[in-house]
Amino acid sequence: MASVTLADLTKEYGDLTAVDGLDLDVDDGELLCLLGPSGCGKSTTLRMLGGLETPTDGDVYIGDERVTDEPPYERDTSMVFQSWALFPHKSVLENVAFGLKMDGVDEAERNERARDVLEVVEMSEFVDADPEDLSGGQKQRVALARSLAIEPDVLLLDEPLSNLDKRLREQMQLELRNIHDEVETTFVHVTHDQNEAFTLADSIAIMNDGDVEQVGEPREVYDDPVSLFVEEFLGDTNLVDARVQSHIDGGVVAATEFDEEIEVPTPGGHVEAGDPLTISFRPEELDVSRVAADGGQSADPAEAGDVTTALEGTVTDVLYRGSSVRFYVQIGETSVFFEQSVGDKTDFEVDDSVVVSWDPEDLLVFSEGERLGRGGT
Ligand SMILES: Nc1ncnc2c1ncn2[C@@H]1O[C@H](COP(=O)(O)OP(=O)(O)O)[C@@H](O)[C@H]1O
Ligand SMILES: [Mg+2]
Repeated sequence: MASVTLADLTKEYGDLTAVDGLDLDVDDGELLCLLGPSGCGKSTTLRMLGGLETPTDGDVYIGDERVTDEPPYERDTSMVFQSWALFPHKSVLENVAFGLKMDGVDEAERNERARDVLEVVEMSEFVDADPEDLSGGQKQRVALARSLAIEPDVLLLDEPLSNLDKRLREQMQLELRNIHDEVETTFVHVTHDQNEAFTLADSIAIMNDGDVEQVGEPREVYDDPVSLFVEEFLGDTNLVDARVQSHIDGGVVAATEFDEEIEVPTPGGHVEAGDPLTISFRPEELDVSRVAADGGQSADPAEAGDVTTALEGTVTDVLYRGSSVRFYVQIGETSVFFEQSVGDKTDFEVDDSVVVSWDPEDLLVFSEGERLGRGGT
């Protein structure tokens, strides 16, 4: 295994900048996911790392070695692609041993090593099979084994699971994690699927428009996003537009699309009256209760001291989503959703009046795309 460093890495295609001064460190033995929307430069970054594309600017280091100008075969990297291009007229074993044959490893040894990696990917019983007879998931395992057989320092995976159906993809995500633990190789895995990144990664690097926007452990980037882009890309959340009205201790009063003013903590953030804000109300942080007909639950917005932390709204839609139910609540000019698992007593119906409440500490507040008060600073 080896660490990887990308320094000020840039790739231009004519007028288009596909990768734009990207810096990234991957630790020795780490499984890092490059996550981002289609077209943000993930594959181009991976291909420059593997030597399949020459950078316009910047450098690639594997371990301590600068490999920017080295061809692919001079680097200890190996690539697994989305399409599992296996040789059709060779057996599974021959496919997996192929790279070793090219490296001049003798037949007895390369077959032994190929059998070993086929065991790791749980394909031992298919050594003599024709790849044509395998399922998609099995072919992808063989492709993975073929890349692992040459014992690369860094394994590069470009959306290797995206041709598999959902169930198999989720199973393979867990297996890939186990394989990574077993082979102790640095993995750089490209995906546009947040769930896949959360399942697999030691670290996630979130890419936006040719650059890395945030790197961290999955929990860290989810709990502490640096920007509105990261929040929107990672989360299924409620974003509410607001405008700063006035300052109060530790925060501001903001007019919102709820048609109500609420108080928003903005620690460390410098905003002025009139500035637009975007506030993320994460569905899992919302507390919702029905307004009782006898007025048991206050029909007025609940007020704790001076801070508005609850608003009344009306349930407009109830969506069954398999194991969970999603409820939409209209509040003023906007709508927020929250979810319950089907096992819970789902006691809300369309047209119910409900009170939606939150803890101001749980709000994520963004100004011009940047997170305010990150880490409480
Ligand atoms: N060989 C190429 N020639 C011209 N443009 C390219 C080439 N490869 C990629 N691009 C462009 O570079 C951008 C990044 O592409 P890519 O790295 O494939 O993104 P991703 O893998 O994140 O979907 C896209 O706008 C894409 O169209
Ligand atoms: Mg791609």
